[in-house]
Amino acid sequence: MNGNGGGSFRAGPVAYRSFLQLLDANEALQQSYETLMTSLRLLNDTRALKVLLFTSARPGEGKTTVVTGLALAMARAERRVLLVDADLRRPTMHRLLGLDNTQGLVDIIGGHVRGADAAHTVKISEATGSTTGVLRVVTAGRVAASALDTLQSPLLTDVIREVAAGYDVVLIDSPPLLAVSDPLLLAPWVDGVVLVVNTGVVTEADARHAKERVDQAGGRVVGVVMNRFDEQLHGPSFHPYHGYYGRGATR
Ligand SMILES: Nc1ncnc2c1ncn2[C@@H]1O[C@H](COP(=O)(O)OP(=O)(O)OP(=O)(O)O)[C@@H](O)[C@H]1O
Ligand SMILES: [Mg+2]
Repeated sequence: MNGNGGGSFRAGPVAYRSFLQLLDANEALQQSYETLMTSLRLLNDTRALKVLLFTSARPGEGKTTVVTGLALAMARAERRVLLVDADLRRPTMHRLLGLDNTQGLVDIIGGHVRGADAAHTVKISEATGSTTGVLRVVTAGRVAASALDTLQSPLLTDVIREVAAGYDVVLIDSPPLLAVSDPLLLAPWVDGVVLVVNTGVVTEADARHAKERVDQAGGRVVGVVMNRFDEQLHGPSFHPYHGYYGRGATR
């Protein structure tokens, strides 16, 4: 992904339209997502890759932007795609897409709502007028209890399997794995892990370390997305989530 993946989206009820319009207007960005879709489809030919977890070594490398952009691009291509925010530490997907976050993944796991009822529907056609795709999104929900408890719940994998039924692909966002271990709890239960790497910021050692952590946890890294961008140029120079994961976090 070269630049221009985010930073200029307005929060609010039509935020996803800005994202889609950006996709429509920016051919290079569109091509990046199409290449990513093709790569995943080619991998899919050799092994079943329906449920994919997106993570990164460090905060702010672009996981949420990339996984959301990919989900929108897949929905535009009329694939049945479900996007899930499993970043229960600092969920941002709902803001990026302008969706309500009153209930979501934590409420499904807690048994307060059924998966199908908690999923939002984003109509691609409303934004572009040209395609008919639909994206379904489960936001994180309001995380009251410890996020880790929720992720450790044996129900989580059942919930993911249940909500995954009826979709071609399920894309899951998560926190950075060298900061917190949440993605490692999910890694063994998904079909593959995709590492998002901001090559301009993260060191090679960090990226390698991240892959090793996934391997050790029993997960499979099936791909790496190079998301090279400069926050000074393309987004806020201060990323609000830097620092949250630092002190005392599981390393
Ligand atoms: N390819 C890109 N081009 C321009 N800006 C980008 C790109 N990717 C990400 N950004 C911007 O960088 C910032 C961090 O991106 P994002 O929130 O997607 O990262 P993240 O890895 O999900 O962060 P966190 O670890 O906090 O969950 C955002 O302001 C986003 O708009
Ligand atoms: Mg994120």
